[in-house]
Amino acid sequence: MTKEMPPQGGCPHSFNRRGLLMGLGVAGLGAAMTGTAHAQVPAQQGDHAVTNAPSATVASGPVSPYGTHQAGIVTPRPAHGLFAAFSVLARDPAELENLMRRLGERIATLTHGGPVPQLDANLPPFDSGLLGPVIAPDALTITLSFGASLFDNRDWLAPHRPKQLQRMTSFPNDALVADQCHGDLGVQICANTSDAVIHALRDLIKNIPDQMVLKWKVEGSVPVLPAAADGTVESARNFLGFRDGSANPDAGDDALMGRILWVNAPAEPLWARHGSYQAVRIIRNFVERWDRTNLGEQERIIGRLKMSGAPLDQPEAGEFVPPDYGSDPEGKATPMDAHIRLANDRKAGSEARLMLRRPFNYSLGVTKSGQLDQGLLFIAYQADLEQGFIAVQNLLNGEPLEEYIKPVGGGYFFALPGYGQGDYPASQLIASL
Ligand code: HEM
Repeated sequence: MTKEMPPQGGCPHSFNRRGLLMGLGVAGLGAAMTGTAHAQVPAQQGDHAVTNAPSATVASGPVSPYGTHQAGIVTPRPAHGLFAAFSVLARDPAELENLMRRLGERIATLTHGGPVPQLDANLPPFDSGLLGPVIAPDALTITLSFGASLFDNRDWLAPHRPKQLQRMTSFPNDALVADQCHGDLGVQICANTSDAVIHALRDLIKNIPDQMVLKWKVEGSVPVLPAAADGTVESARNFLGFRDGSANPDAGDDALMGRILWVNAPAEPLWARHGSYQAVRIIRNFVERWDRTNLGEQERIIGRLKMSGAPLDQPEAGEFVPPDYGSDPEGKATPMDAHIRLANDRKAGSEARLMLRRPFNYSLGVTKSGQLDQGLLFIAYQADLEQGFIAVQNLLNGEPLEEYIKPVGGGYFFALPGYGQGDYPASQLIASL
């Protein structure tokens, strides 16, 4: 078995670097690390790129679930991801502790991997068997989060709710489907293969049936790409065919992550420190309509060139070079209502609205009207939900992209702080009850 990756105590440098070394070779790594210096907030690139397309030779060893922060947030995004929302049945602190300890135990076992215990043939098998007699770790991460309903429906928990955790309400372009929204417990599962992701979900459901009930889930993936000959790795494309993640903040910048990602505000309960607000949105894409829209319009709607990801005001630049809106005050190059310009006008104060996006593309069946049911499983993390996702979505309301997208589900959750080996998820909360 491969060596275990270090915990997510802050920047997962060595994890990324090792993954890159495997994919790029040392020369390529050097090239990837000497990217253009950015004005304002540095975008992700090189070895800290959460939304880079996963490499074809990505590391498949275990990712440690232990550290100051949970794994699966600044961890580079592997090819497959799933978000599942559960109802929690715990009626008192002891039952919640029991649930969280059992989740912690399953997470430890699943992320580490190893041989499956063989049981008596007269009993149900220990494991689904999906991965065979030895569970491969496959870079599996399981990230737990709590929804507002967990707190609001329990008197003994309500006073401990993170200050900004709230039930997601509908935005003007939303058509939210009730049974794809909210939940007491969110479980984000990511791994190199969809088998590892589904195996982990089935393991949790089988082992903890008395404490949590599955409400909804969405599975997604992102395209795996080899690094280019010069060592650069591009952002993975979404189902609109555009690179998604180019301007994501640099997840390896601990100081920046301390400001925009990890909860640390004095108003927040102490137990919530080092956690993060998680906004999940199931956003359907009307791909047939998009595919019939001319290229120039698509690029003006997003604000970037489709193939290279370059900002429209610098068509020869790479995707990681930031747009210069100061030189384009009337929106002649990048329309004022382009998605990226509305989402981040890059003016003073815009840093407060930054979030770390870690989405996956989902593809379901066919709608009743014969259209592909595809879209974006949008997952974003931030220290301040109101200044982050909610403020940005309000800026995006009415954008031209709305003609091609329809948010149908999701919810707001609070990604729990990290925990150490021998401890368990949400132990800080349980200790404060
Ligand atoms: C299906 C829905 C969506 C699609 C297809 C989409 C697509 C894109 C694309 C192609 C980019 C440019 C590349 C990049 O920097 O990542 C982008 C940037 C961005 N998007 Fe979205 N997006 C969607 C939904 C959202 C939502 C719901 C939000 C937040 C409320 C959001 C926030 C952002 C932000 C903050 C940026 C970076 C802007 C910058 O700093 O330049 N997006 N999106």
